[in-house]
Amino acid sequence: MLNPVIISVGIAVLAVFYYFQSKNTTVSFKIEKILLQSFNDYKKNGWPYDVYGPISHNHRNMPRSGEPLGWIIVDTIDTLMLGYNYTIDKENKKEFLEQIEFVENWVENELDYDMDAEVNIFETTIRMLGGLLSGYYLSKDLNVGKPEVYLNKAIDLANRLSLAFVNSPTGIPYSSVNLKTGEAIKNHVDNGASSTAEFTTLQLEFKYLASITGNKTYWDLAEQVYEPLYKINDILDKYDGLVPIYTLPDTAKFWGENIRFGSRGDSFYEYLLKQYLLTHEVMYYNLYRAAIDGMKKHLVKESFPSGLTYIAEKPNGLEFQASSKMDHLVCFMGGLLAMGATEGYTIKEARAMYFWNEDREDDWLLAMKLTHTCYQMYHQLPAGLSPEIVVFNYAKEQRTEFEEITMIDRQNWWTSPTDDFFVKPLDGHNLQRPETVESIMFMYHLSNDTTYREWGQEILNNFVEHTAVKENGRVEAYTSLNDCLHVPTGKRDNMESFWLAETLKYLYLLFQDNVDLREVVFNTEAHPFPVLDKTDMEKFNLTTGWSLE
Ligand SMILES: *[C@@H]1O[C@H](CO)[C@@H](O)[C@H](O)[C@H]1NC(C)=O
Ligand SMILES: *[C@@H]1O[C@H](CO)[C@@H](O)[C@H](O)[C@H]1NC(C)=O
Ligand SMILES: *[C@@H]1O[C@H](CO)[C@@H](O)[C@H](O)[C@H]1NC(C)=O
Ligand SMILES: *[C@@H]1O[C@H](CO)[C@@H](O)[C@H](O)[C@H]1NC(C)=O
Ligand SMILES: *[C@@H]1O[C@H](CO)[C@@H](O)[C@H](O)[C@H]1NC(C)=O
Repeated sequence: MLNPVIISVGIAVLAVFYYFQSKNTTVSFKIEKILLQSFNDYKKNGWPYDVYGPISHNHRNMPRSGEPLGWIIVDTIDTLMLGYNYTIDKENKKEFLEQIEFVENWVENELDYDMDAEVNIFETTIRMLGGLLSGYYLSKDLNVGKPEVYLNKAIDLANRLSLAFVNSPTGIPYSSVNLKTGEAIKNHVDNGASSTAEFTTLQLEFKYLASITGNKTYWDLAEQVYEPLYKINDILDKYDGLVPIYTLPDTAKFWGENIRFGSRGDSFYEYLLKQYLLTHEVMYYNLYRAAIDGMKKHLVKESFPSGLTYIAEKPNGLEFQASSKMDHLVCFMGGLLAMGATEGYTIKEARAMYFWNEDREDDWLLAMKLTHTCYQMYHQLPAGLSPEIVVFNYAKEQRTEFEEITMIDRQNWWTSPTDDFFVKPLDGHNLQRPETVESIMFMYHLSNDTTYREWGQEILNNFVEHTAVKENGRVEAYTSLNDCLHVPTGKRDNMESFWLAETLKYLYLLFQDNVDLREVVFNTEAHPFPVLDKTDMEKFNLTTGWSLE
């Protein structure tokens, strides 16, 4: 007869074996160490300043008044909380908890937004308000720390940022606000135009806050930008759902015709889909759908000779010539298209859902192709790290005379081994950006294809090897690069806050197993918010306040 004790021990051993197998604890553990190392170096040499150089240890604050906004600190809270939740290493868990308590104490007792300083409302919303709100969510959900510390600070900050909306005659906010006086300030350049992606990337944060507090004003302020924007510019008919990157806040009219998915355009598209995922307002899926159809019609192209799919730009409007330049920033699109197709279900589940159709199948295929292209932007580079901007090559017969002339400059450009893309000398920097590993993380969990973990691991290794700051041969920290076109790489003395907030978080989540993408929506700075509760929305009358009729 079999001994039941032996059987249960056997089962336990097997369970542990499978747990370790699937979770890939080695890589997970390595990322935890990198995260804690970067954070400890900042704590020792840069605390509590907003801008930090890991090489010189120089530091300063963002506002001229000199007080810290918590730029790096607040951005990192939820990454520490996720490490605390997922780690299976006792020492690391203890250390994550200590760091969380240290940060929370600073937020509660030192951080004060009552400062006479002009801040950009987009950057401050996605990083600080977003970081505080996900700190609140995770603190509550994981039962770590004091949720109200984050919520109180979030409400205080949101009330100050809200004033940027008030002075504008169209409801489209000016680009900056003074946190103390509430004075709204137009962009000092670009004819006072606000970046289109900036005032359309505040909605997740303000809508989530409205659902927590029951204060509908946050919801209405954030939402009011869309009606004038869509109607005055006739976006669906004249622009096929796409938008130029500047808008004049006093008239809601576009300024210029430059259309792109890179800087100043990117998260306009991201937040259309993510509002739908967060709130289930169908209106926003429809606007997203129109934009993606417009993108496929006008901007999706293939490189020569290998046929890498990329998203081109239209600097002079839709009817004019495309430019084959693509920012690394565009690399979030793989993950976005995949989430739009599957709504967070695995691809296998999604294909069996009532909502599946040809458009979604096509979005999914495009997501795979774009993620592959973005991986090539790392894989083909000497340091295995992507530059800030690439220019794709395409067949000679498709070029205009003008482009043929600019292509002559190629002699001075770095050329990829397959000849599919180039890098201009001034674009060879790497800012530790997250967008490619972000897409890889989404693609992995939605497809369950281990290729994506291999790509992620390769990129992680390259960050470790080529961005490390060493002292006496010992790695102390990680930094941005001035030059990733040569090995050894040229270092830049700055650690971006999104290295901790986004890049390491997405890499970490790539190697976890229990990541349910139907439960949370990541804001554009990788801060997770829970999908809103339908009863809360009804209770507080949080509904789409406009239509295209
Ligand atoms: C963990 O991931 C690495 C790289 O992706 C891989 O080489 C290794 O086999 C994985 N280990 C397990 C146990 O899955
Ligand atoms: C709701 O939010 C608005 C905008 O910040 C603020 O002015 C107002 O005082 C808030 N209402 C309540 C009841 O807290
Ligand atoms: C994911 O793939 C692994 C094999 O690599 C398999 O064991 C597992 O069941 C798959 N999970 C899902 C949800 O399909
Ligand atoms: C915390 O970790 C557990 C176990 O790995 C996971 O199932 C859960 O989704 C995680 N929670 C959050 C909020 O990340
Ligand atoms: C609910 O919100 C909508 C849209 O903002 C508004 O038109 C309506 O009057 C509100 N209803 C109540 C009962 O406040």
